Amino acid sequence: MKINPTVALVTGANRGIGKAFVEALYSAGTERIYAAARSIDSLTDLVAIDPHRIIPIALDVTKPDQIAAIVQQAQDVNLLINNAGVLGSGGFFADNSLETAHWEMETNYFGTLYMIRAFAPILERNGGGAIVNLLSVSSVVNVPVFASYSASKAALYSLTQGVRAQLAQQGTLVVGVFPGPVDTAMSEGVPLDKVSPIQIASAVLEALEQGIEDVYPDPVSQQVFAGIRQDSKAVEKQFAGMLPQ
Ligand SMILES: NC(=O)c1ccc[n+]([C@@H]2O[C@H](COP(=O)([O-])OP(=O)(O)OC[C@H]3O[C@@H](n4cnc5c(N)ncnc54)[C@H](OP(=O)(O)O)[C@@H]3O)[C@@H](O)[C@H]2O)c1
Repeated sequence: MKINPTVALVTGANRGIGKAFVEALYSAGTERIYAAARSIDSLTDLVAIDPHRIIPIALDVTKPDQIAAIVQQAQDVNLLINNAGVLGSGGFFADNSLETAHWEMETNYFGTLYMIRAFAPILERNGGGAIVNLLSVSSVVNVPVFASYSASKAALYSLTQGVRAQLAQQGTLVVGVFPGPVDTAMSEGVPLDKVSPIQIASAVLEALEQGIEDVYPDPVSQQVFAGIRQDSKAVEKQFAGMLPQ
């Protein structure tokens, strides 16, 4: 898939990795980019880069009525980037853990599912196109310091595989991205080396050009997957060891 003729829609586009996707797509010459965010005001600076090519859209991915409205506006999309995501804290046993788990599943899993169900027919009409889902290394091994977030990202990984199989016939490339720590508000306070959001966006655009389905966009991601191939139980234990004793 070539990026240049693409019309893209990016969720959670106002900051972090989503914003980097809009900037990278813009630099790559993408014809039109729908930048979707819960607050349209938070997109002002991004849209100011080029209001003809960067189109602001108000979108909470957990609200199917809002998704139905943007479907009418964005009939030309052939690249859907499901980036919006949330990370709670407190593991599985804090007082508010169930609320947190529902919130993470509703945003990370169901929000993405709502978007894919709404846009799959549009992608088909536009020649197949591509869907990019922002997963995590925690999609493949639970990181207990982010235990219930990991569970939501594992569900999203399974969704990604299932959607890939189901949309293969219509020619839609479904890409899963498995970042390690990235320098955004989400990972604030995480005491690990982090890569820049633009590194993630660039790796994904390169993967799209090459038709690659699984993207390991940074050194931590690559190390975790190499470790899993060698000894997945050792990787599970390594992450378990990060919990405070
Ligand atoms: N940072 C990391 O270390 C890391 C690692 C692996 C994977 N990821 C994944 O990468 C993606 C982007 O994360 P990030 O690091 O850029 O995080 P971030 O800086 O916290 O940004 C999250 C984005 O998601 C949006 N969002 C949250 N809930 C939403 C909803 N219901 N509807 C629409 N938008 C919503 C936020 O919008 P508001 O401004 O309105 O809150 C914001 O734009 C996430 O899926 C995350 O899980 C991040």
